[in-house]
Amino acid sequence: MLKRISAVVLGGLLATALAGCGGDGGGAGSGDDDGTITLGFAQVGAESGWRTANTKSIQDSAKEAGIELQFSDAQQKQENQIRAIRSYITQKVDVIAFSPVVESGWDTVLREAKDANIPVILTDRAIDSPDQTLYKTFIGSDFVLEGKKAGEWLVAEYQGTTEPVNIVELQGTTGSAPANDRRDGFAEVIKADPKFKVIASQTGEFTRAKGKEVMDAFLKAHKDIDVLYAHNDDMGLGAIEAIEGAGLKPGVDIKIITVDAVKDGMQALADGKINFIVECSPLLGPQLMELVKKVDAGESVPERVITEETTFTQEQAKEALPNRQY
Ligand code: AHR
Repeated sequence: MLKRISAVVLGGLLATALAGCGGDGGGAGSGDDDGTITLGFAQVGAESGWRTANTKSIQDSAKEAGIELQFSDAQQKQENQIRAIRSYITQKVDVIAFSPVVESGWDTVLREAKDANIPVILTDRAIDSPDQTLYKTFIGSDFVLEGKKAGEWLVAEYQGTTEPVNIVELQGTTGSAPANDRRDGFAEVIKADPKFKVIASQTGEFTRAKGKEVMDAFLKAHKDIDVLYAHNDDMGLGAIEAIEGAGLKPGVDIKIITVDAVKDGMQALADGKINFIVECSPLLGPQLMELVKKVDAGESVPERVITEETTFTQEQAKEALPNRQY
């Protein structure tokens, strides 16, 4: 049965199209006779190289798994994501998955999905609701651990130094799980040594443009920056432009740690402009589709599926670059 989605036109970029809903498992499924599962996916946006790779992974994997994908781009706005989820509920898709822009404010819409008997899967980012019955599972990275890995590299790098180490931090989207957790994980590790001082911390919204803008301001306000910790590669890459614009050498005059390990970030690392990258894998599509099939069939799934990740030094980036998928 074909249904036309109610108008969910999110700033002209929403990719949601005509919906063919089906499925005969655990979801509400509007009941296609061919048993095809329909997945409504509400994506954060297209703010970074990571996000582009994540979207591609989801789209390719859905195709490969024979799952019909309804996809929307929320342009980093929670209200757009909520609207998209409501539209998926109206369409009676079989399963809803989304990567929450921010951590709070999801209970109402997720209760609506639950009341409609549509299972929800969180991907990439968590929510802070105490009601864990609102979603079936969460697949994604351990962002606190990522922040800790960044901090541990820094501690090792400055071992034996007693001089103050002045750090500026480019945070991700305010209120998002990766911004909160990467900040906290990093802070927890560096607090053990008072020589590490975060002298400025501001959101760069996970984008290259904002990363450059905020780093420009940091450089004007502080003449003594030793280290930049950017919550993703894109902000780090924007900051590199600002640092070079100020006549300084990124990776040398200011050491740079980022998170993600997308190709552009890895290239900058191999070129010596970034010093260390903590990997965050965007390739969640294949595992997500497995989970979608299971929850649609009413099978049990683990509460939490953590993705495997590593870290890269400059040497390791040179080795890994030729085979980097994204
Ligand atoms: O939620 C994952 C984060 O979102 C990535 O690290 C960042 O690049 C993206 O925008």
